[in-house]
Amino acid sequence: MTEQTLVLIKPDGVARGLIGEIITRIERKGLKIAALKQVIVSEEIAVQHYAEHRERPFFGSLIEFITSGPVVAIVLDGERAIAAFRQIAGGTDPVEKAVPGSIRGDFALETQYNLVHGSDSPESAKREIALWFPDFTL
Ligand code: CMP
Repeated sequence: MTEQTLVLIKPDGVARGLIGEIITRIERKGLKIAALKQVIVSEEIAVQHYAEHRERPFFGSLIEFITSGPVVAIVLDGERAIAAFRQIAGGTDPVEKAVPGSIRGDFALETQYNLVHGSDSPESAKREIALWFPDFTL
């Protein structure tokens, strides 16, 4: 049985012209794109998306960053899609955690500007897909 995950190519990824590179890696892994759109994120959606980080010191700058330019939102479908995307993304800190060969390990330097987001659990995936793609059905 397949599962779905919500992926964002953040404003740094879009601005740096890395949409194609990132989508190539997703497809090469075997994950299927079930929905995709480029949007400018409202503060309201951004705050809901990152609600679990509300008390963190970087919350304000994270919201400012994610609303600073276009984002590509994607629903991926595949076997173990949540873990599979997190594997190809690499760890949150692009230098200390993400290994070379991963998206963050190959292309990012700073934790805030880490290019991509991927849901971290089935519960988060369900919530995030409903938030970004309210009409989504597989
Ligand atoms: P993401 O996977 O989208 O989930 C939360 C985001 O918060 C994370 O990627 C980073 O972009 C950001 N983040 C996490 N930790 C820090 C930090 N210490 N400083 C700045 N941004 C952070």
